[in-house]
Amino acid sequence: MCGIVCYVGHQDCSRIILDGLSHLEYRGYDSAGIAVHNQKDIKVVRQQGKLSGLEERLKDSPLPGTTGIGHTRWATHGRPSENNAHPHRVDDTVVVHNGIIENHLELRAELERAGAVFSSETDTEILAHLVSRNIKSTTSLKDAVKSALKRVQGSYAIVVMCEANPNELIVAKNASPLVLGMGDGEMFAASDVPAILKYTRDVMFMEDGELAVITKDAVTLETLDGEPVVRDVKKITWSHIQAEKEGYKHFMLKEIFQQPTVIEDTLRGRVSIEGSGVATELMGFDDATARRIRRIVLIACGTSYHAALVGKYWLEKLAQVPTEVELASEYRARGPLVDPNDLVIPISQSGETLDTMEAIRIAKAGAARILAISNVVDSAIPRASDGTLYTHAGPEIGVASTKCFTAQLAALYMLAVHLGRRRLTLTKDQARELLEYLLRVPKLMVEVLKKNEEIKALAQSIAGYRDALFLGRGLSFPIALEGALKLKEISYMHAEGYAAGEMKHGPIALIDENMPVVVVMPNDDSLKRIVGNVQEVLARGGKVIGIVSEDEQESASIDMARLEIPACPPEISPIISVLPLQLLAYHVADFKGTDVDQPRNLAKTVTVE
Ligand code: AGP
Repeated sequence: MCGIVCYVGHQDCSRIILDGLSHLEYRGYDSAGIAVHNQKDIKVVRQQGKLSGLEERLKDSPLPGTTGIGHTRWATHGRPSENNAHPHRVDDTVVVHNGIIENHLELRAELERAGAVFSSETDTEILAHLVSRNIKSTTSLKDAVKSALKRVQGSYAIVVMCEANPNELIVAKNASPLVLGMGDGEMFAASDVPAILKYTRDVMFMEDGELAVITKDAVTLETLDGEPVVRDVKKITWSHIQAEKEGYKHFMLKEIFQQPTVIEDTLRGRVSIEGSGVATELMGFDDATARRIRRIVLIACGTSYHAALVGKYWLEKLAQVPTEVELASEYRARGPLVDPNDLVIPISQSGETLDTMEAIRIAKAGAARILAISNVVDSAIPRASDGTLYTHAGPEIGVASTKCFTAQLAALYMLAVHLGRRRLTLTKDQARELLEYLLRVPKLMVEVLKKNEEIKALAQSIAGYRDALFLGRGLSFPIALEGALKLKEISYMHAEGYAAGEMKHGPIALIDENMPVVVVMPNDDSLKRIVGNVQEVLARGGKVIGIVSEDEQESASIDMARLEIPACPPEISPIISVLPLQLLAYHVADFKGTDVDQPRNLAKTVTVE
């Protein structure tokens, strides 16, 4: 998820672009760049690191001009570096891009065979080469961009400029956001409204498959096939802060609602049903190595640890590899046995958690192979690993992890199917069916999110209690743990997650009318037994909220509050059933007025002992 801002008009564009980018840093900030046309040629300045570094460089050597494009990067392909920063330039063409080009490897190979010389590791540079090549054989920049985009599969929001057209920008959108801003003798485009609110509140939101030619006096919108598009201009009434949250009250709520898109982005280009394999790149080992794995050790902290607990079920069932799950801090404390045939998988959204980083050092000392799962390209944990399977969740601003958790689950599920195919524990048809389940997740998530108001009412019913218990069995046990962590860390209400089968071994002593119990009970093999647990709780005066599947009758007669999730294959139920728990925790915290995005005593990344 990157930030794009562009301008064409009568003002000096550098200041406007940098200001706009500063309102998009929540979209990504590992590098930044700007390109300005000074009516003679285009100057490009790029800088690794935060936007402030670029601003400093431009203070010393400003770029005069009234047409320009800018970009803040959140790396998905290619480490954060000046070379990989946008804008990318090839001859007279300059491009910025937000998205993922799925067929980037084949296009790059084709271009290199035709003599193109690449200077970066990014998928974006391919666009600059394609447009630059097309310009030589077409009359307009617009047509050159259209021809390039017809070769591209995947998501993009792009802005293109070239030296021959000093007063024109071409923008195009598919699956990544792009909004056009209309001013008086000046026009804007950006990834998001906050970037341009200071200059105009008159905007047009582009739709997928559309392209626009922007000059200082006009915006001409059309489809890639040349069909003219008429779009109403909308007046934005949000404040700046509201705009960064896209109208959501908190970043956490925005990120909960981003999850369908985040899963789509994490799966994009990696799940090929035809091949029934998972083209997971950067795994750092081939089939022979995959078959030599004797044990998998998942290592993580907090929410990532709960993702690891879910991953264990999938890796053992689908890839049939004995899998252990370790709290990073305990792994460090224990001085574990490590074998060269271990595959150690550190899971870390930030890629910087100290306990997980230290655990990797121990595993490496034991000659294990390390495959990281992380959301931040080239962060410390991926750098210390043999390979990394990246989630594409974009920056997660809320301290309580939500979208990164479900993205981690999607990555673990893909990995389990991938290893199952490599180790021949899954047939092609089994893998294809499992991947089709995964591709359904975004739509199923949308159905759950439609129940936000219903969940808010359930949250109100428990917000006044001091304690809560979360129960689950099998794949739902880690989800119960995660629901308890979400509730405690943002609402400060004491909450415990427990394996439902453990109730009779102690926790049932806690049950009375003052103990709300949230039970994750999807329609799977554990349903009958967990219905029994619910009845034990109700018999002792406990108050139960059941997260149930809409397609089962087993629990229909139980006198409890119910939140129905859509019917789904049991294998993917954890990725769906966690959403009501995220929203339940969010609304309890919001009712209690705690600082939802930055709860007391917590840091987003724990880089200290
Ligand atoms: C999750 O809501 C918490 N904020 C915390 O437990 C977090 O998951 C943990 O600190 C691990 O962080 P990481 O994924 O960046 O390593």
